[in-house]
Amino acid sequence: MKISSVKGFHDVLPGETARWTWIERQAREVGTRYGFTEIRIPIVERTELFSRSIGDTTDIVEKEMYSFADRDGSSLTLRPEGTASIVRAYVEHAMQQKEPVSKLFYLGPMFRRERPQKGRLRQFSQIGVEVIGRDDAAIDAEVLLLLHDLLTGLEIRSPQIELNSLGDATCRPPYRDALLAFGQAHRAALCENCSRRLERNPLRLLDCKNPECRAATTDAPVMLDHLCGPCRAHFDAVCTVLRREGVGYRLNPRMVRGLDYYVRTAFEVVAEGLGAQNAVGGGGRYDGLVKALGGPDIPGVGFALGVERLILSMADHAGAAPLLPEVFIAPLGAAAESEAMHLAHRWRRDGVRVEMTSGGKSLKSQMRLADKMSVQYVLILGEDELAGQALTVRDMAAKRDFARAIELSSSGNALRDALAQLAHHSVEQRA
Ligand code: HAM
Repeated sequence: MKISSVKGFHDVLPGETARWTWIERQAREVGTRYGFTEIRIPIVERTELFSRSIGDTTDIVEKEMYSFADRDGSSLTLRPEGTASIVRAYVEHAMQQKEPVSKLFYLGPMFRRERPQKGRLRQFSQIGVEVIGRDDAAIDAEVLLLLHDLLTGLEIRSPQIELNSLGDATCRPPYRDALLAFGQAHRAALCENCSRRLERNPLRLLDCKNPECRAATTDAPVMLDHLCGPCRAHFDAVCTVLRREGVGYRLNPRMVRGLDYYVRTAFEVVAEGLGAQNAVGGGGRYDGLVKALGGPDIPGVGFALGVERLILSMADHAGAAPLLPEVFIAPLGAAAESEAMHLAHRWRRDGVRVEMTSGGKSLKSQMRLADKMSVQYVLILGEDELAGQALTVRDMAAKRDFARAIELSSSGNALRDALAQLAHHSVEQRA
């Protein structure tokens, strides 16, 4: 009996990993340009960390966490996101005493027990950034500029930043009351879920996907119309920078995000190629979170992108192709095989990507193998070549042989130079 992987948990196969490493490299590069340094946080945390930060009435905490009792009875959880863990680490290591502003980036797997479908997995990977220690609108805008640069570099198809403000401790409570009153007046038309959570978390009304619920709430009040003066000024300042820097955005007053820690700026990125799960990323400001997790009153802002969704929405050609072997050595006979192994070892140490096989295979079967690996040059090592101390080169694309063209004593660099000359020769001949 074969053992299959767990539903919603996927392998990333060798043909796909070149794209993953390319995405990660881009993220590191763009992050470094904006002054971020990497932080690595554990995959398992205390369950309380997430219930206290993400919020008890969110889908994530209510029904999607992988929580389990440790042997000593404490409840642990596979992290469903990175922000809570980063703030936990920030507080635990009193990072505010070491630097006035922490600009951190991270990447790695997250776990949510959602219903799997295209773009929605139970283990998925995020790339995220967090700035802890600044409360000004300029840093929100800078984080959005970084996001925009990253989306551009990754060649995401039709990315669109959706922007909203969720207000703060001054203007959100009265707005929340207004929304609650609206929900209560329309309770009969709400879906069961929204009706159940209405008193505890009325904001959820706005991002419910149920069509009847949506219809019933088209005229619901939105936060953008209820912002207090400072929140309005903050939001306008963020928008001004984006416009000045030519970064397009769309206001989405119904976007409330699926995590409860946000205040003021909140955003999502939607893109092509994702179907119903159309957000490749999301983020925003979380000024109360450090304090809620036992630290000082220090503000924060950040975002995370889902790597699997980025891949679905990237242009087809984007990302690095896997690196193919540069040469395939085809030895004929036992003596040639041991010489081939020696050559392969030397050239690999010199940095050349070398493939070979062993076991006395015929030239024909070795050629077939090299062809399958899409290698351009096969280096044939038979009796004549051993005697002449030089390999015969077959240019697979040009279908040409160059008898004893590479000396056995060649270094990796000399090998590459000789192949480049042969390639030049092949092109000249064809012309
Ligand atoms: P989030 O919106 O929950 O935000 O997740 C960010 C991104 O992770 C999503 O836009 C999506 O691309 C990806 N993602 C989420 N769930 C899944 C899933 N089940 N399958 C595949 N991809 C998924 C956060 O996690 C916040 N921590 C972002 C943040 C950082 N806010 C401030 N700083």
